[in-house]
Amino acid sequence: MIAIRGATTIEKDEKDAIRIAVKELLTEIETKNSLNRSEIMSIVFSSTSDIHSYYPAKAAREAGFESCALFSATEPEIDGSLKLCIRVMLFVEKNLTPKHVYLHGALTLRKDVAKKYNVAIDGPAGSGKSTIAKALAADYRILYLDTGALYRAAALMAEDLGIDPVDAEKVSSMLEQLDITVNYEDGAQRTILNGTDVTNRLRSQSVTMGASAISKHPAVRTKLLNVQREIAKNTTCVLDGRDIGTVVLPNADFKFFLTADPDIRAKRRYDEMLAKGIEVDFDSLKNEIILRDKQDSTRAHAPLKKAEDAIEIDTSRLNIQEVLAVIKSKIQEKI
Ligand code: DC
Repeated sequence: MIAIRGATTIEKDEKDAIRIAVKELLTEIETKNSLNRSEIMSIVFSSTSDIHSYYPAKAAREAGFESCALFSATEPEIDGSLKLCIRVMLFVEKNLTPKHVYLHGALTLRKDVAKKYNVAIDGPAGSGKSTIAKALAADYRILYLDTGALYRAAALMAEDLGIDPVDAEKVSSMLEQLDITVNYEDGAQRTILNGTDVTNRLRSQSVTMGASAISKHPAVRTKLLNVQREIAKNTTCVLDGRDIGTVVLPNADFKFFLTADPDIRAKRRYDEMLAKGIEVDFDSLKNEIILRDKQDSTRAHAPLKKAEDAIEIDTSRLNIQEVLAVIKSKIQEKI
């Protein structure tokens, strides 16, 4: 008889969330360990005391775990412990090396992972990197650093001062006054430029093009490199950008490089703008993306480039969940 452990977390204490989470966790344990359901003798559940809406054991019965013995217990409330967490221990009649399974926020329970890890996601505009990075951060409950926002904030400062972002000399002297930090509100990044929250001003077309232009100056990159490394040094986080896997964190634990056809990337941006109620011309958006690709990938310093050890994913024909699944399976394979 061997014991296999597992844990997962839910977003809300709701019956359906508990049912889905229990089914996902047990199915994943079965798959990872190539288990036959009849080999499972019993399952012990323990859930944190903030879970009241449903019995995990009942959810397991409903998910088809019919013949094994089931038992549910509640853990004491301890300060700082993981919230909304369901743990399991499966006793199995089989001789195997158990593969324990930790999903969602419970990944942080793994000592090797909890130690700290960084995920680098690079790629051109519209490849889906920020959507994916945000979704991954929410799922694993880790921090998301949007590094493009830092370059955008630098471009915004230049714009406000009437400085041409291409002008190396003027940009260089501007850097002495440039102070960019980030903080988080409900998990969402706020970008602070010289003490003012400028998050809502970073997505205009002029700032977008300005960021691409200003990011080619080595002095700008060096300054922002420190901001990024400082955050990544002590925090488990996912960063998206152009040079995360190559320059900012060449030793990142996980590196991904997302690509997609320019037409598809332009369409994504177009739909995104429309959803926000912003009217844009598709062709000029596409031209802007192509121009940015060119600027970002041909600059001399830290150009947009796939790191040799990054996993490339063409997202042209994949939806968010599919890309996320590929990334998660690669991460979970290693940890
Ligand atoms: O990812 P984004 O669209 O917010 O980035 C805006 C610009 O900033 C992008 O065109 C190039 C630059 N950038 C960069 O040079 N390095 C990064 N790590 C992130 C962005």
